[in-house]
Amino acid sequence: MKKVLVHNIGLLCTPVGSHVHAGAQQAEIQSIPQACVLAEDGVITYCGPASGLPQGAAEGARRIDAGGCLVTPGLIDAHTHLVFGGWRQHEIPLKLAGAGYLDILRSGGGILSTVKHTRQESEEQLTQKAWAFLDEMLTLGVTSCEIKSGYGLDLETELKQLRVIRELAQSHPMDIASTFLGAHAVPEEYKDNSDGYVDYLIDTMLPAVAEQKLARYCDVFCETGVFDVPQSRRVLEAGKALGLLPRIHADEIDAIGGAVLAGEVGAVSAEHLIATDEEGMQAMAKAGVIADLLPATSFYLDKTFAPARRMVELGIPVVIASDFNPGSCPSLNLPFAMNLGLLRYKLKPEEVLNAVTINAACSVGMEDRLGTLEAGKQADLVIWDAPDLEMILYRFGSNLCRTVLKKGEVVACHEGKE
Ligand code: NIG
Ligand code: FE
Repeated sequence: MKKVLVHNIGLLCTPVGSHVHAGAQQAEIQSIPQACVLAEDGVITYCGPASGLPQGAAEGARRIDAGGCLVTPGLIDAHTHLVFGGWRQHEIPLKLAGAGYLDILRSGGGILSTVKHTRQESEEQLTQKAWAFLDEMLTLGVTSCEIKSGYGLDLETELKQLRVIRELAQSHPMDIASTFLGAHAVPEEYKDNSDGYVDYLIDTMLPAVAEQKLARYCDVFCETGVFDVPQSRRVLEAGKALGLLPRIHADEIDAIGGAVLAGEVGAVSAEHLIATDEEGMQAMAKAGVIADLLPATSFYLDKTFAPARRMVELGIPVVIASDFNPGSCPSLNLPFAMNLGLLRYKLKPEEVLNAVTINAACSVGMEDRLGTLEAGKQADLVIWDAPDLEMILYRFGSNLCRTVLKKGEVVACHEGKE
């Protein structure tokens, strides 16, 4: 048996339980001063005040000194597009000249430019590139994530991307949830025939994805000029019929009814919601849809920020994720998104913590084993070079991770600090 004891924790902050934390609960966490965590074979067997550790329990354990610092659960990034070919820095002059995100897509760039590169790259090349992103995420305290396909837009490349995600899930230390996002854009081959593409997706792509068990979720980019509400409904319903749980890119640029549709189809989550309205939020609240908010995308696209405070008020569980992708958010820095959660959404530090731990776990189906530090859960935790939560949310731009543990193993350690 492999035992590890994280001791000398100045303050341990964690949500409790395996349920979404919404409304007043969004701010509920347990804070334990002078704590320790004991894990055996990657699973927590004790988490609490150091004085309460049963005598002899830590015998033979590897000891990790937290140096009197803050410890939280490992962060969970519930929305990424991190398997892609190429980059899109060539769009910067267009952006500076005032072109909007959808203008660039309409002119054949944007997502479609990434599709071209993703189709060209081999499974090995894509895996290698994504692997390095996951390694970088670990150094930032992110120990689990969701990954979407959506840069293939044809059967062969969507399956290739999903196989890459599966390979990463099987081989990389991160826990990974897989989402089929074939409805990410209308490919060149179906230009001016988006209904034809939706037919192809439903008749050909979805059954193959389901049959090969390559995704747990089905997502759609419901947006002006991409997929409208009836098309999005068709995709999500077809996915549901094959056992794929619905999630949706909703009201990112325009409020065209994506959040309302999320409520109607019983989506696990509606994501982005920058432009969402009261009707959309009411529908989500009623149906128990989780809001996956992506503040670094608002920042990069120079948009307003989703009405997170109103969502908490309405009892909608809020998640904060990175949206890492080469177009609308070329940053995988979830702690930066957390900083924006405080500074722009005006969420309390405790609300932000729940947004990237237990609520994120619930939105990607990992809540039974992840998202909190409690006996029985996986020993995924971060020792921060900070005394409290406020410090990590306030010192934006610095990486305050000191040591990161995944299943009780050290996966990132910032030199000289341990
Ligand atoms: O979540 N909006 C759609 N999809 C991504 C952007 C993808 C891209 O631009 O490559 C997003 O923002
Ligand atoms: Fe996205």
